[in-house]
Order: sequence, then structure tokens, then C-alpha cells
Amino acid sequence: MQIIMKAKYLIVTVALLALACSLASAGDPSPLQDFCVAVKDPASALFVNGKFCKDPKLVSANDFFFSGLNVPRNTSNPLGSNITIVNVDNLAGLNTLGISLARLDFAPYGLNPPHTHPRGTEFLIVLQGTLYAGFVTSNGDGNRLFTKILYPGDVIIFPIGLIHFQWNVGKTNAIAFAGFNSQNEGRIDIANAVFGSDPKINPDVLTKAFQVDKKLVEYLQKQLWFTNS
Ligand SMILES: *[C@@H]1O[C@H](CO)[C@@H](O)[C@H](O)[C@H]1NC(C)=O
Ligand SMILES: *[C@@H]1O[C@H](CO)[C@@H](O)[C@H](O)[C@H]1NC(C)=O
Repeated sequence: MQIIMKAKYLIVTVALLALACSLASAGDPSPLQDFCVAVKDPASALFVNGKFCKDPKLVSANDFFFSGLNVPRNTSNPLGSNITIVNVDNLAGLNTLGISLARLDFAPYGLNPPHTHPRGTEFLIVLQGTLYAGFVTSNGDGNRLFTKILYPGDVIIFPIGLIHFQWNVGKTNAIAFAGFNSQNEGRIDIANAVFGSDPKINPDVLTKAFQVDKKLVEYLQKQLWFTNS
């Protein structure tokens, strides 16, 4: 009797794990209708599928339109880079469609610092300039670093969740575009999250984690961690 019960629990557990894995490996949920233009005011909303959807009768071409990505962005900042993200927050028609994009501007030697996108795999295509780009695999895969020097027309992939970066190693401005398989890929800048969290992580935690002098941790925690996006 007990053995049968245990077997049942095992089957249920395995089934739940399989379900969790299939949910975890999925990207954004598939749309259940042609589109679901995100709307802030629930009074003019119809269906709920992630965000409220605008009444299709009120939807127009502008809900699927964004312009200005041809304009170079201002890179006079501590990182020398400026990321213009086009996702569901500024292109509401992307809601439920599972994609977004970005323009990346780099001053000479400008950096898009190590960061991750918790919800999206990224591809990046260089239009102008020369970028040194790469990502680091997870602990289980040995934290291997993969890098490439990218020239115009070159593409690199950053798998979902992995830490990656791009650095303009050329003497001219660089321009790249990126695509994500999420309407809201999210972004975690490693330095900002670790040393610039609000409130601060107890410095003893970081001192032990990084195996450095506590003064260095406190120094890093005092810095203004700029973000380029
Ligand atoms: C990016 O550039 C735009 C204008 O080109 C500017 O308004 C914005 O503040 C810049 N963002 C950053 C993070 O420097
Ligand atoms: C770019 O941003 C810097 C710093 O905010 C500012 O001083 C400068 O005037 C901006 N340049 C342009 C062309 O807007």
C-alpha cells in the first residue's frame, strides 16, 4: 500500500517537474488572437493576456509603428554607449508577440557593460564600426567565455540569461541593432545589481563572495552605477 502511494507521489512529482520544465523553457506565451495592443486604461480594454488589450476596433496602424531609429543617440556618458529599446513599453502592439528590438550607439571605446536579459535570447547585428562582443556560459558549463570581433554585417547570438557585453574597439562610432525573442526582455547590469542595489547588499556578503578587501567593496558600493538604457 505504502509502496503504491509512494509510486503515485513519484509519478505526480515527475509530471509536475516536466510541466515546470516545459513552462520554464517556453518564451513569451503564444498569442491567442491576431494581436493584443497593450493599453494602460482598463476602461478601454477588452481581454487580458499579460497586459490589458486595446479594443481591436480602436487599434490603428500607429499601434504597430515606431520611428526615429535612424537617429544617432547621445553617447556622452560614463559608458560611452546609449541603448534605445523598442519593446512593449513603447510599442504597445508588441504585446503577446514575443519579440522586441534595440538600437545600440557606441562612442569610440564605448562599452555596453556586462549584463543579462532574464527573459530573452538576443541577436546583434553590427551596421557600423568594430565591436568586441562576447558572453560567458553558466557554472555547469565551466563559465567559458566566447568572444568575437564583429565588423559591419556580422551577427552574434547571446543565449537567454547569459552575461554578455559589447565594446567598441574601433576609433569611430559604432552602431548595432539587436532583436530579442521577448516583448519585454528585461536587463540586469551586473555591476549595478551587485554594487548599486537599493538598499545596499551587506558589504560582508560581497567581501566574502569576491574574496577581496572590505574597503574595496565599500568603495565600489559608493560609485554611481550608470546605466545606458
Ligand atoms: C541617449 O541619447 C538620447 C538622445 O540622443 C538622450 O536623450 C538620452 O538621455 C541618452 N541616454 C543615455 C542613457 O545617455
Ligand atoms: C549629450 O549629452 C551630454 C551630457 O548629458 C550633454 O552635455 C550634451 O550637450 C549632449 N549633446 C547633444 C548633442 O545633445
